[in-house]
Amino acid sequence: MAASVALILVVILVPFIGVVNGKKEELEGCDLYNGRWLYDSSYPLYNSSQCSFIEFEFDCQQNGRPDDLYLKYRWKPNSCDLPRFSARKFLEKYRNKRIIFVGDSISLNQWQSLTCMLHSRSPHSEYLLERVQGVSTFTFLKQNVSLILSRNALLVDIAHKSWGRVLKLNAIADNDAELWQGSHVLVFNSWHWWLHRGRKQPWDFVTDGDRLYKDMDRLVAYEKALLTWAQWVNENIDFTKTKVFFQGISPTHMNAKFWGNYDGDSCGEETRPVFGPPHPRKRLPAQVILERVIGSMSKRVHLLNITRLSQHRKDAHPSVYGIPGRHIGMDCSHWCLPGVPDAWNELLIAELTRG
Ligand SMILES: *[C@@H]1O[C@H](CO)[C@@H](O)[C@H](O)[C@H]1NC(C)=O
Ligand SMILES: *[C@@H]1O[C@H](CO)[C@@H](O)[C@H](O)[C@H]1NC(C)=O
Ligand SMILES: *[C@@H]1O[C@H](CO)[C@@H](O)[C@H](O)[C@H]1NC(C)=O
Repeated sequence: MAASVALILVVILVPFIGVVNGKKEELEGCDLYNGRWLYDSSYPLYNSSQCSFIEFEFDCQQNGRPDDLYLKYRWKPNSCDLPRFSARKFLEKYRNKRIIFVGDSISLNQWQSLTCMLHSRSPHSEYLLERVQGVSTFTFLKQNVSLILSRNALLVDIAHKSWGRVLKLNAIADNDAELWQGSHVLVFNSWHWWLHRGRKQPWDFVTDGDRLYKDMDRLVAYEKALLTWAQWVNENIDFTKTKVFFQGISPTHMNAKFWGNYDGDSCGEETRPVFGPPHPRKRLPAQVILERVIGSMSKRVHLLNITRLSQHRKDAHPSVYGIPGRHIGMDCSHWCLPGVPDAWNELLIAELTRG
């Protein structure tokens, strides 16, 4: 009798554990990045039509994507639950504060996701969206919360000389130091532009110390630049005021060799994630370098370790529903919104919650 009462209590109480989950104590010590994608009918967190300022290349539904199952997955860590997203709590917590994303268009993807997540929950809140050169600032006026995107694909500086553009592997933050220092949360990112060659390569020469090169092994250059970044951050960011993150390498699904279960030459017509055990292959080379650099720092930079969980989402890229007919015919690098970057932001919020 006592046993069955206990059993009934367990059955009744278990569903309520979800209510208390996602709290600071539970998140401490939880590996947020080890988990799985679960179908959740309450997702997505917003509808892109509620996000009037969304960049059209992320608005896959508006661009005619016919399937919508990809919108319905929630990231579930194995040993804890992510905090339930609350725009109200977030805006209260960051009143009078600034959150800055520094990086390439993958940072744009995540910044845009967060602005949509927050604004769709309080659609009547007044906001200001300003764009000055490479910096976009989205401010929730009532709470004075600013979400800033600083476009900076390589993090280190590029000098424009009469004879060409010089990528300076040892120089950083020529223009951005003040912006970075005045923030409460900094989320850096850099990788994809290190791979570009030809017309899309953003430099003509590379300098390392006093040596000038025409080009360099891209992984070597990437590590040198990250070391420059790490030293600057160590010396110039006040870690008692600012929490520093690095967005892990965002995987693409253009190329079959990065993804065992997948053997096309595009991500078109993919409508389901890859389920099953974690990806068996080795980590991406850039991932190894990034972790090595972050691990060598004397101050604690948090890795938003989104690589593997995103590798499962071959279904979540814009493919042909990004920029139809424009320069990217098949976009397997960015992510549809709503979508995977919303989960990155739920993870960021979990990291910020556990302190
Ligand atoms: C988003 O909202 C629009 C307009 O209300 C609606 O037509 C569309 O079906 C919604 N999309 C999803 C995926 O729910
Ligand atoms: C708004 O927040 C910024 C920091 O992001 C701060 O410098 C400024 O003083 C705040 N404005 C008001 C009116 O509190
Ligand atoms: C990030 O996740 C990968 C699995 O994809 C794991 O091997 C690695 O140790 C994690 N890195 C950190 C710093 O936790």
